Amino acid sequence: MKEHKCTVLTGGFFGDEGKGKLAAYISLKDKPELVVRGGVGPNAGHTVIYNEVVYKLRQLPAGFLNERSRVLISPGMLVNPEVLLKELEVTKIGDRLGVDYQSGIILPKHVKVDKEDSHLTEKIGTSGAGTGPANQDRIRRSAPLARDIPELEPYLTDTVQEIHESFDRNEHVFLEGSQATYLSLYHGTYPYVTSKDVAAAALCSDAGVGPTDVTDVITVFKAFVTRVGEGPLEGELDLEEMNKRKWTEYGTVTGRARRAAPFNYEMAKRAIRINSTTQIGLTKIDILFPECEKVQNYEEISSEAKVFIEKLEKEVKVPVTLIGTGPDMYDIIDRREELGLF
Ligand code: IMP
Ligand code: MG
Repeated sequence: MKEHKCTVLTGGFFGDEGKGKLAAYISLKDKPELVVRGGVGPNAGHTVIYNEVVYKLRQLPAGFLNERSRVLISPGMLVNPEVLLKELEVTKIGDRLGVDYQSGIILPKHVKVDKEDSHLTEKIGTSGAGTGPANQDRIRRSAPLARDIPELEPYLTDTVQEIHESFDRNEHVFLEGSQATYLSLYHGTYPYVTSKDVAAAALCSDAGVGPTDVTDVITVFKAFVTRVGEGPLEGELDLEEMNKRKWTEYGTVTGRARRAAPFNYEMAKRAIRINSTTQIGLTKIDILFPECEKVQNYEEISSEAKVFIEKLEKEVKVPVTLIGTGPDMYDIIDRREELGLF
């Protein structure tokens, strides 16, 4: 019998669902021994607000906040050493960080191509972080790995060994994903996608964890859908309507204005299948239902908000366990205990 916990966190739409905020909350509440970042690389942007400090992270997991957690970068990930070292300074996590020997490396030339190649910049609308070109070189097997970079030497570790030893001690390993289901190279809206798969199974693969070791998959949806960069977005609103609904947002990495559309149940259903989701995180319900702002108790949210949540649960048959009601870490309703899931 397995006694460890392994929670995987994924995005259900096109990214920016608020995974960062939920990851930060989970790390403080659940106190996982290991927080492992998966996904592509520093093309991600998490905004975390804690003790009135705003952290904008691209490379480190938002779950770094728990001072007792070890923070690992998985071998499936790409690392830009410059970005990583800057975030180390800001977060002061020091030797809590471990970077896998085999994580891929983004070189300045990869960033240059990602910012200059018109196929990537104009057609796809990439984040310009260099991840696609770096993965291209990695697949060509000509790219350096973390073990080849002297500045990373103090942090290098065998993350697979650390994760499985943690399982052996019946600990909690939290696999924090980035990007999202419909940005997946395999399951997304190709060619308007990122440079690898980023669904739950891919996060496991990033970290060297097999499917039977996972105990929960939490997929995060925002109460409306947003997308940065190119590609289809069903029901897309014009700017005037977005402003009216207060759905306007700007990207953490690129500062680009996000496009927006109403919540999409069909996409949510399919994302839940692709991720084998066991719990849903739903963020920004305070934007749809302003009266729910900062509420921390399910009983206290409005009946309109409850109708929305219950409709989602009925459609997809997965419980909504974490509900975001504002930007702060503790603007959240955590129903896991009440539902017997914690
Ligand atoms: P790339 O991942 O930078 O190659 O960009 C490919 C597409 O994925 C672009 O449309 C990006 O805007 C989008 N993308 C990549 N990472 C994220 C993310 O973390 N949040 C939102 N969109 C992302
Ligand atoms: Mg983001």
